[in-house]
Amino acid sequence: MTVVHITGARPNFPKAAPVIRALAARGLEQRLVHTGQHYDDKLSEIFFRELDLPRPDVNLGVGSGSHASQTAAVMIALEELFLASRPSLVVVYGDVNSTVAAAMVCAKIGVPLAHVEAGLRSFDLTMPEEINRKVTDALCDLALITSPEAWGHLAREGVADSKIHFVGNPMIDTLLGQLDRFDPAPVQAAHALTGPYAVATLHRPANVDDVASAQALIQAMHKAADVVPILIPLHPRGRARLMDLGFGDHAGIRVVDPLGYVEFMSLVRGSVAVVTDSGGVQEETTVLGVPCLTLRPNTERPITITSGTNKLVTAAALPDELRAVVEAGRPATWPVPPLWDGKAGERIAEVVVTWLAGRS
Ligand code: UD1
Ligand code: UDP
Repeated sequence: MTVVHITGARPNFPKAAPVIRALAARGLEQRLVHTGQHYDDKLSEIFFRELDLPRPDVNLGVGSGSHASQTAAVMIALEELFLASRPSLVVVYGDVNSTVAAAMVCAKIGVPLAHVEAGLRSFDLTMPEEINRKVTDALCDLALITSPEAWGHLAREGVADSKIHFVGNPMIDTLLGQLDRFDPAPVQAAHALTGPYAVATLHRPANVDDVASAQALIQAMHKAADVVPILIPLHPRGRARLMDLGFGDHAGIRVVDPLGYVEFMSLVRGSVAVVTDSGGVQEETTVLGVPCLTLRPNTERPITITSGTNKLVTAAALPDELRAVVEAGRPATWPVPPLWDGKAGERIAEVVVTWLAGRS
């Protein structure tokens, strides 16, 4: 019985770590594949140094490319690997191209598939991730969901109830497991942050790829930086475009390279607010109780709005919304979604082990 985990892009690593750890504790044989979708140290390697993640057994080295070429490169390499080794189960994470590529290979050669973070929906098919989610969920044998509404989404798309398991959020396992390491003071000092500040991350194609959207975003971020200084560990996607359009030309905007997980989360923990278009960051701020303004028209994680600290905002509304959350201060108490309790990895291991036992 060999379980193979597919990772490739930054958000995969904090989700996979607790699952691999929990399955290792049950003595399962496992292999970790890194597709190479992300390859910069700060988007990949640093997670292996900082989190309790084993070294990948294989790195497919696919690198960057168009959606079709990147997805196809992962598919070609994984098909060869799976035909040679026939895993008992392949586990995929989230909604990136590496996820859907693995799912399609598994379905076509008859290798069972588990999808961690199944059933999230933005209902926005202009997002590449929404396509990846729908295809992966249609093909998986185990749909492991992080929040209750995912059950309804999957059921309406015809996924059998017997495949769906509400296990909680493994990314939050990682966050809670590392919480003691998130010490804002030294990291703030290293970044010369002497007073209140916000953290921002921006990388969605809809925000950074198109010139007009990027210009509107920059204008809004500059006005927001009049309210409070904003530190932005900028993702490589769109970095050149944003900088060419003058993103850095404001005293309150501090653009830095992507940060390691512990440094990033320490800064988020000490911030007055976060501005983001990331999926994972909406969840992490919800658990830390940091107000989060999400620069998107929709979210596949509405639970972070109803049971968390998240709010969707337009670029035009961002400066006023940021002023409001800075003036209101951090909430003293806030709700946290059910089963975001640090035990999702163990629940996933229980589902996987039971499922494998049923097949043998
Ligand atoms: C990918 C995911 C997105 C996720 C994000 C997390 C897909 C379709 N998108 O977006 O869902 O939110 O990762 O970070 O899978 N690049 C580098 N160094 C790297 C990797 C990428 O410079 O290590 C640059 C390249 O110019 C590349 C661009 O970033 O073309 C985009 O990378 P890609 O992996 O295609 O998508 P992301 O925007 O990173
Ligand atoms: N992250 C990090 N350093 C950064 C920005 C983000 O370590 O500079 C972490 C953070 O935990 C986040 C995760 O990377 O949740 C994935 O973030 P990303 O926005 O890349 O992906 P998404 O969740 O939008 O798919």
